[in-house]
Amino acid sequence: MADSIPVTRIEVPMSRINAIRDAVCGVTHLGEGPDASRLAGASDAPALLAFLSDPAVHAPIYTLPRPLTEASVEAFITDHIAQRAEGEGLLFVREDGEGGIVGYTDIQVWPHWAAGELGGALHPSLHNQGRGTAGAGMSFSWMFRALHLDLICETASPENVPTHRLLDGLGFERKGEVTSTRTDGTTRASLVWEVTRADWFARHKD
Ligand SMILES: CC(C)(COP(=O)(O)OP(=O)(O)OC[C@H]1O[C@@H](n2cnc3c(N)ncnc32)[C@H](O)[C@@H]1OP(=O)(O)O)[C@@H](O)C(=O)NCCC(=O)NCCS
Repeated sequence: MADSIPVTRIEVPMSRINAIRDAVCGVTHLGEGPDASRLAGASDAPALLAFLSDPAVHAPIYTLPRPLTEASVEAFITDHIAQRAEGEGLLFVREDGEGGIVGYTDIQVWPHWAAGELGGALHPSLHNQGRGTAGAGMSFSWMFRALHLDLICETASPENVPTHRLLDGLGFERKGEVTSTRTDGTTRASLVWEVTRADWFARHKD
């Protein structure tokens, strides 16, 4: 089964599709306050490349450009600006206040299924302190509310234990395995998780 996410595909009415596209087009930040992530712009390419260049950041993520160069990262950013204009994708960066990037979030949206996927990474100095789980939990609630989604679908490589624990711990349901295609055409196995809006808010009453 190749690149078949989301596994659950429920068509939604055109009014909902339009509401989702409009929401994606209008978004500028993920989260609130000084820690909020902002949309990435083309001028972020050097700082984003510096952040992504650490294998502890990029190795587990199949959607990143390969090879990682300033030009490929700039193209990745401009492609996401085009995806936002179509209401189908968002790329956010989180800064450290000194011009460095310490995190990024890549959201893909399938408006006709009211479904979305979140990928991203934190700077390795921030790993294993509960920040990824807290940030992901906030982001999933935001995706359901701000983007009007009904389903969030996630993938992780079979060896990416922190992400397995994060998704299992937040109440996602395992949905099997797919083959993911990297941007250079190579493939890898991915485990798939999903959670519905109803199941998410039954468990996360924030
Ligand atoms: C995935 C990522 C965002 C998780 O963030 P984090 O802040 O390190 O995660 P947390 O501290 O919230 O830990 C999540 C769970 O993983 C566990 N964990 C963290 N680091 C671990 C490690 N090195 N080995 C095994 N388990 C680990 C934690 O104990 C926790 O499990 P628990 O809740 O059952 O105790 C972060 O590791 C990262 O940026 N990784 C590189 C990119 C990536 O893999 N992105 C996800 C794929 S899109």
